[in-house]
Amino acid sequence: MSGDKLVLEAPELNKDPILKILQDVIPEKFGADATLQALEISSGTGQHVAYFAKAFPKISWQPSDIDEKYIESIKTYIADEKLASVKPPVRIDITKPVNEWPEMYPDGSFDLIVNINLLHISPWVCTEGLFSSASKLLKPGGIMVTYGPYAIHGEIMPESNVAFNASLKSQNEEWGLRDIDDLEKEAKKNGMTFDAMFHMPANNKTLVWLRNE
Ligand SMILES: C[S@@+](CC[C@H](N)C(=O)[O-])C[C@H]1O[C@@H](n2cnc3c(N)ncnc32)[C@H](O)[C@@H]1O
Repeated sequence: MSGDKLVLEAPELNKDPILKILQDVIPEKFGADATLQALEISSGTGQHVAYFAKAFPKISWQPSDIDEKYIESIKTYIADEKLASVKPPVRIDITKPVNEWPEMYPDGSFDLIVNINLLHISPWVCTEGLFSSASKLLKPGGIMVTYGPYAIHGEIMPESNVAFNASLKSQNEEWGLRDIDDLEKEAKKNGMTFDAMFHMPANNKTLVWLRNE
């Protein structure tokens, strides 16, 4: 194993519960055996994409992150685990419009976008960038799956998430749990619709967003 291959505890713990949701949602939306193009925004270490790629051999995965150390880690996962369906990671800053990304993706390039644990640990401009990019890059009928802790209709629950939100804001006042109502407005602005919410372990949620036809 190369020294660049990072392993963090959070993705080790949540990769299986998230995979189980994907194993329900993806066949339901696209059929059991569809060949699909997926983009992961803010892949981090690469633990998720490596895990999901093995479970979905017919999906071609494009991982990405803004941080060079994660790009190196993802490359090492791809090489060590011989992940033929995972493309080399791209350095994407989600606050930048898609026409300024290092790789050019025509509109409608992806069936699926996955984004795990970014929205609350980043300024709101990242949320805006994620939805506006997804609205261009998803095919009509394509979906974006986001995972993390959220506020629901103005309420953060339980107390541990209230404390987590306060701790995020003490690190950076632009960070914090996003409210599903604000996300829904952002989706609507970008021709997308809130489709489903799944309750996950440790008071997290998986949200599914649909690009309108
Ligand atoms: C909490 S980590 C989550 C990483 C991974 N998805 C996971 O769940 O393990 C947040 C990630 O967002 C990335 N990130 C922060 N700002 C970003 C931006 N503007 N554009 C793209 N990625 C960004 C960080 O580099 C980091 O990998």
